[in-house]
Amino acid sequence: MQRSIFKLLTTSLGAAAMVGASAVSMAAGISVNVANGQKIFNEGKGDVPACTSCHGAEGMGDDAMGTPRLAGQVYQFLVKQLEDFATDKRQDTTMFVMNANAKGLTPQDRMDVAAYANSLAVSGSKLSNLKELSDSGTQVGQTHLGKAIVNYGLLDKGVPACASCHGYNGRGTDPVYPNINQQKFTYLVNQLKKWRDGSRANDPMGQMQAVARKLSDDDILNAAAYLSGASPLTMGNPRAPAEHKPFDH
Ligand code: HEC
Ligand code: HEC
Repeated sequence: MQRSIFKLLTTSLGAAAMVGASAVSMAAGISVNVANGQKIFNEGKGDVPACTSCHGAEGMGDDAMGTPRLAGQVYQFLVKQLEDFATDKRQDTTMFVMNANAKGLTPQDRMDVAAYANSLAVSGSKLSNLKELSDSGTQVGQTHLGKAIVNYGLLDKGVPACASCHGYNGRGTDPVYPNINQQKFTYLVNQLKKWRDGSRANDPMGQMQAVARKLSDDDILNAAAYLSGASPLTMGNPRAPAEHKPFDH
């Protein structure tokens, strides 16, 4: 088991190095137009509706719709997801809209809108409200059990700590590993189940599927409950983490 965790870790470092290299060479020849991204985000383009209509005016996502927070998300990760939707490598099996939305945008539009979403601040008042969800009958899990999974993993099942790839409290490690903290609870639960049953399979080297297959329903609810409110700031270091700006590395 120790060995399998080690293997997961070394593969993930390999992936980061690989994708990192292509992101840098990509950065050399291109530029983004954040104003164009902002226009698409707020007004849509052609048949593609405004992103705000489902992801919220501030890009904070919506538990009732099952949409994710895009605000402040790792730029390269957003571009990759939009490409994966455009090429059907990832299927939106929640609202069945994102594949068409991504296809309706040019590769340049996708970079522009990703850069704009990345630039939006995370709004603390728009995080998932677990009490409200629980009061309305949604099963929400236990944050203290989720905290242990995120930081230490589940040794008896060979589940690695989420933080080993996604960074402190799941705050993201660009370019490969997305912010999973302060992400919408419903979205987190959905995606973990999709990784587990293989209906989402666009993860480099199957890294997330390998993790999710070892999680029970309760593990998923617990991890999602903790992550949905987990702060990106460490106690010892009050500075904001890497701000995931498009081309500063
Ligand atoms: C009609 C609703 C709707 C609209 C409009 C919409 N989205 Fe989405 N989006 C979704 C849903 C639902 C998901 C989750 C799909 C899933 O569960 O796999 C999603 C997922 C995404 C993701 C994946 C994020 C992640 O964390 O993996 C990105 C990126 C995204 N949308 C970007 C956009 C952009 C950019 C626009 C505007 C051009 C947009 N969306 C418009 C409903 C929408
Ligand atoms: C071995 C590295 C690794 C570990 C450990 C790991 N993840 Fe991931 N995770 C990834 C990668 C890589 C992606 C991005 C996949 C992609 O490109 O779509 C990801 C994506 C995700 C997503 C989708 C985010 C989004 O916005 O669409 C969720 C949710 C997630 N991980 C949750 C977890 C949880 C919870 C744990 C701990 C139980 C965990 N991950 C542990 C590598 C890892």
